[in-house]
Amino acid sequence: MGRLVYLLACTFLLLVAASAARIVEHTFNVQNLTINRLCNSHVITAVNDSLPGPTILAREGDTVIIHVLNKSPYNLTIHWHGIFQMLSGWADGPDMVAQCPIRPGSKYTYKQGRSQDLNPSHGPCGSVPAYKFKIIKQEGTVWWHAHISKLRATVYGAFIIHPRAGNSYPFPKPYREVPILLGEWWNANVVDVDNEAIALGTGPNISDAFTINGLPGDLYPCSRNQMYKLKVKQGKTYLLRIINGAVENHLFYKIANHKMTVVAIDASYTNPYVTDVVAIAPGQMVDVLLTANQPVGSYYMAARPYLAVVGLPFDNTTTRGVIVYDRAPSSSVPLMPVLPLFNDTPTAHKFFTNLTSLVSSRFWDPVPPKVDREMFVTVGMGVEPCPPNTTCLGPFNGTRFSASLNNESLVLPTGLSMLQAFYFNVGGVYTTDFPAKPPIELDYTNLAINNNLPLLFAQKGTKVTKLKFNSTVEMVLQNIAILGKDNHPMHLHGFNFYVLAQGFGNYNAATDKKKFNLINPQMRNTIAVPFGGWAVIRFVANNPGVWFMHCHIEAHVPMGMATAFVVDNGPTQETTLPPPPADLPTC
Ligand code: C2O
Ligand code: CU
Repeated sequence: MGRLVYLLACTFLLLVAASAARIVEHTFNVQNLTINRLCNSHVITAVNDSLPGPTILAREGDTVIIHVLNKSPYNLTIHWHGIFQMLSGWADGPDMVAQCPIRPGSKYTYKQGRSQDLNPSHGPCGSVPAYKFKIIKQEGTVWWHAHISKLRATVYGAFIIHPRAGNSYPFPKPYREVPILLGEWWNANVVDVDNEAIALGTGPNISDAFTINGLPGDLYPCSRNQMYKLKVKQGKTYLLRIINGAVENHLFYKIANHKMTVVAIDASYTNPYVTDVVAIAPGQMVDVLLTANQPVGSYYMAARPYLAVVGLPFDNTTTRGVIVYDRAPSSSVPLMPVLPLFNDTPTAHKFFTNLTSLVSSRFWDPVPPKVDREMFVTVGMGVEPCPPNTTCLGPFNGTRFSASLNNESLVLPTGLSMLQAFYFNVGGVYTTDFPAKPPIELDYTNLAINNNLPLLFAQKGTKVTKLKFNSTVEMVLQNIAILGKDNHPMHLHGFNFYVLAQGFGNYNAATDKKKFNLINPQMRNTIAVPFGGWAVIRFVANNPGVWFMHCHIEAHVPMGMATAFVVDNGPTQETTLPPPPADLPTC
């Protein structure tokens, strides 16, 4: 009798817990899709037969379970870009960092994590399965994409986190919400483009188009009817959730005759910032309010690359979509916005540096005043020797391009993922000696140092930084002008960071520390380190596991512009990474 009461009570408690935490469950069928783009038909790898793939809608507090069935011919992993994955690193996705790839014909369910609601230690009812990933303390726009080779060019989609029931936006509720997923398109097979670049040790062939929600728009051949169209009602306000899913390019985005008000970046609320142009690095998200306050008519929205380097080949084309007001005459010719020049660094910098966090938002945590670990990390290119009897198209004869952080060029492990090595304490997969400063102190942004031979050739290895649970890291990211200056969008998995300051030239602690915004700095997961400049970020390592940090220009990842943080478990079961799920792919 007592046992029956106990069971009934347990069932009731579980039902209550389950109803409080909704479960968002999807199946991703990843397979070949034949589609027409730019006058030809192409076979691409896509999720659920759509490009972009499905938009995931969730609420803060929800649990997410996604079954990925890899019916494609390629190894695959999927990353949920911007989701913290608190205690659910097994669901984070980067190839060979968080997991071995899902082989063709295999599947993996992204769900691992410890449920705070159903965890045995939180309830009276014994061992309840506790595997799932949960969205906590973040709202706004994130996205998902393949995190292996260049597959994310076609395997990507939006991921929208609404406030949980009872919570609302810190701005008036928009009439409608619209994802604006900016993408990049190659006519060639993107895995071939990637493999060819890697084989030759050079950059990939440039893309053939940019896209808005998968569509290139009418400036491209045969694309008149492949243009994204947004219908609006005069007087209404729309929330555009802009995501830069382009693979290799920063973008400018603009709408003819309309201003936008930025309200969030990287799923973190900002003070409202009014602008007529958005600069967005690959991997970033910008949420803007758009009020249809212009005369009834039609207006183009358009995006094209921002590339500070002059002289490099790049896809200098423009994608556009159209905003059509209700009752606009069908004959109305849309107005076209004037986009900034491709190398308009002042416009990009103004946008990137004028954003501040909304400290009244419910998830704001004040900037931790005390730093436990200071790092100074140079971000730049380099070369490596061409292996004998191969052809390499590096910058000098007999070289391949390389890229590095503090002159360390990351090589991913092959036999075991870094997270498995961490969990099972397996040696020889990575070393914990990633340097906290560059090998030599010099005038980093002075181009003449590209003749400095020791720095031109980076060290190769799998070096990470080990961090104590809950320690605070401050990192200066400094662009180093080897082979040229550049603007690298550095993305951190597992955390958002505060962006304390940014500038051009060499970071100078004596003068630049005074410029730190410790009151309401913007929070991001991807920072575009200014062209020939620096940015200072700070974050709290409160998430045990292995977290990748890398340039979000895809071509720079196989060249080695990446590292990882290995964050120790905390003192309790609630701060300890749970074991891997049974279906974790093996190598
Ligand atoms: Cu959007 Cu490591 O990736
Ligand atoms: Cu880069």
